[in-house]
Amino acid sequence: MLQDVIKASLNTRISIQAGALDKLVWKNDTIVQSLFSNIERITQFMTTSTRGDVKDISFAPRGKDRIEWAAKEMPVLRLIRERFIKDQPLKGIRMSGCLHITTETANLAITLKAGGADLMLCASNPLSTQDDVASALVSEYGIPTFAIKGEDEQTYYRHINAVLDHKPNMTMDDGCDLVSTLHTTRTELIPAIIGGMEETTTGVIRLRSMETGGVLRFPVLAVNESDTKHLFDNRYGTGQSSIDAIIRSTNILLAGRTFVVFGYGWCGRGVASRAHGMGANVIVTEIDPTRALEAVMDGYRVMPGIEAAAIGDIFITVTGNVNVIDRTHLERMKNGALIANSGHFNDEINIPELEKLATKKRRIRDFVDEYTYADGRQVHLLAEGRLVNLSAAEGHPASVMDMSFANQALGSEYMLAHAKEMQPRVYTLPAELDKEIARLKLHAMGIRIDTLTPEQEKYLNSWESGT
Ligand code: NAI
Repeated sequence: MLQDVIKASLNTRISIQAGALDKLVWKNDTIVQSLFSNIERITQFMTTSTRGDVKDISFAPRGKDRIEWAAKEMPVLRLIRERFIKDQPLKGIRMSGCLHITTETANLAITLKAGGADLMLCASNPLSTQDDVASALVSEYGIPTFAIKGEDEQTYYRHINAVLDHKPNMTMDDGCDLVSTLHTTRTELIPAIIGGMEETTTGVIRLRSMETGGVLRFPVLAVNESDTKHLFDNRYGTGQSSIDAIIRSTNILLAGRTFVVFGYGWCGRGVASRAHGMGANVIVTEIDPTRALEAVMDGYRVMPGIEAAAIGDIFITVTGNVNVIDRTHLERMKNGALIANSGHFNDEINIPELEKLATKKRRIRDFVDEYTYADGRQVHLLAEGRLVNLSAAEGHPASVMDMSFANQALGSEYMLAHAKEMQPRVYTLPAELDKEIARLKLHAMGIRIDTLTPEQEKYLNSWESGT
């Protein structure tokens, strides 16, 4: 046990400034110095492990300001929070969440805690954490958070296991890494779990595969399937924030560039329309004939990826699939090409093959790696192929996450109330909740809509009148 703590502490990025110790009196005694340093690290780890593992706790005030800034754009979640404070629907429930640690997630966490939940958080991607937010969650809001931007895979899974040590009754996932870890290495915790929530398309795909394979052992609400989630978050959120990330990391002009979008699903539609709006010539690639047709009729050129590879200036994958940009695509790319991914995992671009193709690699700007091929061509990979909008920018704007996280908050309440009637399957939120979130959002935006007249209601429920 102690060995584990020591090992973990040495691998842990905690805020201790180990170098500062060098300046102390033990300057010449490296053994004592290193012992002292390790004891200090262990003590730090033991105290921080109860409240989290963050990069630097002194970032907290900035994180708090940014969380409060996002809150202004999250009126639906605010309404839910006000009710949760009174009703305490999650009282006594231990929750473990594996989500992108952003200002919007912080507002969700604050809401769940206000509703009585005993909550711990970790990152759902090694590169999406906002370190100031993680620090603020720990020190300003008392929500243990295990997340450090740029953490390695070992730390990523150590953090997942740390939130599982919380022995949750309920899980929240973005990509299914928490639930899959539970079903592989932490099965002893499953009997205490009432149910879970899943945020994204890729997570839902993994969960459905678990359900089909008879592996899933508790019900999960697929938040992604709500209209007030994927129609807005995936489309407008990913659309805007992916373009934002490409521009922030490269400062290139999109106008006049050939911009290739792999996948014309909810995210792809958003990215394509935003790139088009900035003056880019958009090409879409698809494997689904209906979606390809939709892209054609939305005014884009559609062609096989391998053809687009030779003419594109900027490439982005949003498919939830593997090796969509493969070696054959990489080999054909023009000098100067930019490659990014906004799908959940970093395997949409075949990065190992890119590494093999290149004779030289260097980080030329933050979040931009320049790969030089043997013939001198250079291609640029953004954010190590991880979801670019959360790695090289701030992720979705708060206004859109307001609806996604309203689904999470109401979903957790719904799950608690209905878990007994549910099977170990993937469920969607009831349509009434989904519509209620849309209603609340419109209300917050000051937009009113019509209601059916009794005559129209009757008409829509009848078959008698025709031509
Ligand atoms: P979707 O299922 O609506 O769309 C994916 C599209 O990719 C489909 O139309 C599919 O036919 C197409 N596709 C699959 N394989 C392909 C291939 N080899 N070549 C070309 N097209 C291919 O999924 P959605 O909601 O658009 O999500 C896509 C990915 O983005 C998922 O991994 C999801 O988890 C992730 N996501 C990322 C977000 C972010 O913040 N970056 C936010 C929401 C979702």
